[in-house]
Amino acid sequence: MHVLVVGSGAREHALLLALRRDPEVDALSVAPGNAGTAAVADQYEVDITSGDAVVALARRIGADLVVIGPEVPLVLGVADAVRAAGIACFGPTRDAARIEGSKSFAKDVMNAAGVRTAGSEIVDNPAHLDAALDRFGPPGGQSAWVVKDDGLAAGKGVVVTADRDAARAHAASLLDAGHPVLLESFLDGPEVSLFCVVDGETVVPLLPAQDFKRVGDGDSGPNTGGMGAYTPLPWLPAEVTTSIVEDIVKPVAAELVRRGSSFSGLLYAGLAITSHGPAVVEFNCRFGDPETQAVLALVDSPLGQLLRAAATGELAGVPPLQWRDGSAVAVVLAAENYPGRPRVGDVIHGADADGVLHAGTARRDDGAVVSSGGRVLSVVGTGADLVAAREEAYRTMASIRLPGSHFRSDIGLAAAEGRISVSEGDDQAARDEPR
Ligand code: GLY
Repeated sequence: MHVLVVGSGAREHALLLALRRDPEVDALSVAPGNAGTAAVADQYEVDITSGDAVVALARRIGADLVVIGPEVPLVLGVADAVRAAGIACFGPTRDAARIEGSKSFAKDVMNAAGVRTAGSEIVDNPAHLDAALDRFGPPGGQSAWVVKDDGLAAGKGVVVTADRDAARAHAASLLDAGHPVLLESFLDGPEVSLFCVVDGETVVPLLPAQDFKRVGDGDSGPNTGGMGAYTPLPWLPAEVTTSIVEDIVKPVAAELVRRGSSFSGLLYAGLAITSHGPAVVEFNCRFGDPETQAVLALVDSPLGQLLRAAATGELAGVPPLQWRDGSAVAVVLAAENYPGRPRVGDVIHGADADGVLHAGTARRDDGAVVSSGGRVLSVVGTGADLVAAREEAYRTMASIRLPGSHFRSDIGLAAAEGRISVSEGDDQAARDEPR
């Protein structure tokens, strides 16, 4: 099987490495890739937001399966174009990708499916903003305002703050740019990312993971696209994962089928484990980054066969997934000033070490690897437990040099120290809680 992976992040580097372990995968290509993926796959420079360009490449190289990593091509319908060309594609249609591309669509689907999620309101008229802010944040009930861009924003469209002026300023800047704003009630409790391979109503969950969205240690500073992740979650009871699949992901997948927007690909549920049980923060239509770097480090089943089965309507016949024992931790190295305008073009030393997955990197003519984006690379450590996996990840990180760069030092730390717990569920309260 020849697999073409579309994208250029550490997520795509992780996908390629896991695909390479599948004995049925005999050729790998990537478009456009980065300095690290060039060592794993044939690399092609194409416009990945153009269905025509991706189809032309897939035909030219004889790809049997196209795996689309990022959300933007999915929301633009690149998977539709690949399927229409008769090539198997892992990734949802444009229609189904609205589960990520439009937060109001996602809320509508969740409400129809009876799934717990934060209460919300769309504001598209600046004159209504102040009254809506008063309904959605402190004083009194909520501990923070949650202000989101209704459309795609690479994780950076979200501001969670107890400061009304900051919440208002973010909402006003989105409205000024012509973007509708989603105000949400704040969901308290530890976050979980659960990736599910989905085809129609068939749902196959991967290991649950947790990611760290704020830029600084102790969850300080602004939101980013993700600064690190670990898997599995020692504090999450197995029955909670089962209930996320049965009570949240399956009903949402069924509701999408009912609407004629059947989902095929990776449905990523981002949840908060509240005192009333799991509630959805957001759905995404693709593998998450950086959780994928940790989750795929532990997958033992043949990934190419799994993704091909989803793409060809055979997911229900796939044997139960096998996982390596132990834990995996991914830590992101970010460029100076990320998540603002990052400094780029600096030489990175140590980027070829084992466990390093590239993202914003490029190979200069003289062979040096240089930074070319905000999230430069991810370092993945594995071990018998979280403590060992963290040690390996941070040992590798210590061997990498990039001027001005920064990373979080506390990825997976609270879990490794047993400081995360979930409250006892209260089923009646869960049923009574307003959505
Ligand atoms: N881990 C956050 C994201 O992929 O959107």
